[in-house]
Amino acid sequence: MRSGDLDEWIRSLVVPFLAQVDEESLRHWRAHLEVERAWSVLDEGRSVGTCCVLTRDVSLPGLADEPCPTSAMAAISAVGVHATHRRQGLLRRMMGAMLADAMDRGEPIAGLFASEASIYGRFGFGWATSSVRLTLPRRTTRITNRAADLDLKLCDPEEAGQHLPKLFARLRLGRPGQVDRNEPYWSDMFVPRTHPSRGSQRFFAACDEGYVSYRSLPGSLSEPTVLRVDDLFGATPEIEAGLWQFVLGVDLVDSIVANRPVDEPFRWRLEDPRSLAVTALNDSLWIRILDVPAALTSRRYRSEGSLVFEVEPAPTWVNADGEPEPDPAAGRWVLEAGRTGSSCRRALASEQSELRLGVADLGSALLGGQDLISRSAAGRVQQLVPGSLLRADTLFETRPLPFSSTGF
Ligand SMILES: CC(C)(COP(=O)(O)OP(=O)(O)OC[C@H]1O[C@@H](n2cnc3c(N)ncnc32)[C@H](O)[C@@H]1OP(=O)(O)O)[C@@H](O)C(=O)NCCC(=O)NCCS
Repeated sequence: MRSGDLDEWIRSLVVPFLAQVDEESLRHWRAHLEVERAWSVLDEGRSVGTCCVLTRDVSLPGLADEPCPTSAMAAISAVGVHATHRRQGLLRRMMGAMLADAMDRGEPIAGLFASEASIYGRFGFGWATSSVRLTLPRRTTRITNRAADLDLKLCDPEEAGQHLPKLFARLRLGRPGQVDRNEPYWSDMFVPRTHPSRGSQRFFAACDEGYVSYRSLPGSLSEPTVLRVDDLFGATPEIEAGLWQFVLGVDLVDSIVANRPVDEPFRWRLEDPRSLAVTALNDSLWIRILDVPAALTSRRYRSEGSLVFEVEPAPTWVNADGEPEPDPAAGRWVLEAGRTGSSCRRALASEQSELRLGVADLGSALLGGQDLISRSAAGRVQQLVPGSLLRADTLFETRPLPFSSTGF
């Protein structure tokens, strides 16, 4: 894409999403787009499809009480094809171009947030992180096991801009699945929202070891007021509980909603644990492994073990020219894992495969939040040698569960 075409690229992108070009979308994409990693499909000179890759990293499972390691990740975004050109293979070609570019740059994985969960499995992406949407009534909630109250300060956007990015960079390494945030991301957070559907301004309450950002959702005066928590990060579960206690103390609010990790511990501090209702379970980050040894040895393992496994190729793998090619993740591999490190290599002919799974299921397993046993029960993972399924499941699992709170 030529850089002069940026505004045209944005105008084309909003069409498949049934959206419109406004100041917010122009500002967002002008700041975020890496022009050399953006693609347009042209038909008679007009853009009819767009996509881009953002250069990001993601936290991977680590050892207890140590910061999580990270891996470079090609973060795929802005995928859209105009209604007039759908189901003609444009996404397939754009995906080929994006993944070839990621491999040229040595990125071992690609990641995305999917608009529809049926689109990306064919390209080898697996559902890797989940979130739960929690709703909590504010006025009636009683806490039986209170955390210490925090010395929080309400920050204006300038103070928040000084403090929060550094704090987030440290705290995101407390869980796998957390994507890094760059300067344009934070700028978006601190700019007043112009779109009324996004709710009130954002409020930021922070201390040295944690912060919460929240806003009220739009509604009329006669409707109950909902406080939406956008970020809630603490260095320990105790500090996160202190942040929950703080938002429970915000007056004029009837209920609190938040997208949180599946293993959110605050429930177990409540007199009525049922009151923290799960209103949705959603997929967040989808992972596609491009380089199996690099991806698998970048994360840590909490138990010792080895596994010979066979990865089946994705149904669709094409190169940058849209031609079918062998899937680079497919084949037979040996993982030797332990607390002090791991290795991964191609299996020798003499080494018998113990487990067979698709590349999408391996992508799901990488961040440790998707169990292989239930995938096996669904026919997606085959145990070829007795005992190997439980061994694989134990090797890949992690705590705390992965969570991705940074969209792209
Ligand atoms: C999703 C979208 C980009 C697909 O583009 P496209 O050019 O029509 O896709 P392709 O023709 O390359 O299709 C590739 C394959 O994916 C399948 N596919 C495409 N869109 C699909 C969908 N929404 N659900 C299920 N399968 C889909 C096709 O059937 C095809 O399958 P095949 O390989 O078995 O033949 C397009 O429909 C779109 O712009 N949708 C609205 C915006 C959106 O949701 N974007 C994704 C953001 S994450």
